[in-house]
Amino acid sequence: MSCRMADIVKMTGLRIAPAIAALLAAGVACAHDPVVEEGRALVELNCSRCHAVGVRDASPHDQAPPFRTLSQRYPLDALEEAFASGHITSAHPDMPDFVARPDQVEAILAYIGSIQED
Ligand code: HEC
Repeated sequence: MSCRMADIVKMTGLRIAPAIAALLAAGVACAHDPVVEEGRALVELNCSRCHAVGVRDASPHDQAPPFRTLSQRYPLDALEEAFASGHITSAHPDMPDFVARPDQVEAILAYIGSIQED
C-alpha cells in the first residue's frame, strides 16, 4: 500500500469510505510520517552530496549507490544493524563517517525504507 494513493485521495478530495481511508492512511512509512520526514531532511543535508536520496535522482558521486536501491544490495535489517552503533560508515574512502543519535538513525532508516524499489 503506497502513500501516494493516500495523497491522491487527499489531493482530489476523493470521497471514499472511512474504513478505506483509514487503511490508506496506515500505509507503511508514509511520506507524511514525521519520522520519515526527519530522515529525509537528515539525508538531504548529510548524504545527498554523493547519494541520490530521492525516488528518481541520480547520485552526484558515481560510485555512491542511490538510497532507493540499497535494499537490493543489503537487506534493510543488515543496514539497521550496521547503523545501530550510530556510526554510518563505508569502506569507501570518499564517504565521511557520520555519527548519528539513535533517533536520527531511526529516522534515516525509516526514510530509506520508505523509498525502496522492490
Ligand atoms: C562524500 C561522499 C559521500 C557522502 C557524503 C555519503 N556517502 Fe555513503 N557512500 C559513498 C560512496 C562512494 C559509497 C560506495 C561505497 C562502495 O561501494 O565501496 C557509499 C556507500 C554507502 C552505503 C552502502 C554501504 C557500502 O559500504 O557499500 C551506505 C548505506 C551509505 N553510503 C550511506 C550513507 C549515508 C546514510 C550518508 C549520509 C549520512 C552517506 N552515505 C554519505 C559516498 C558518500
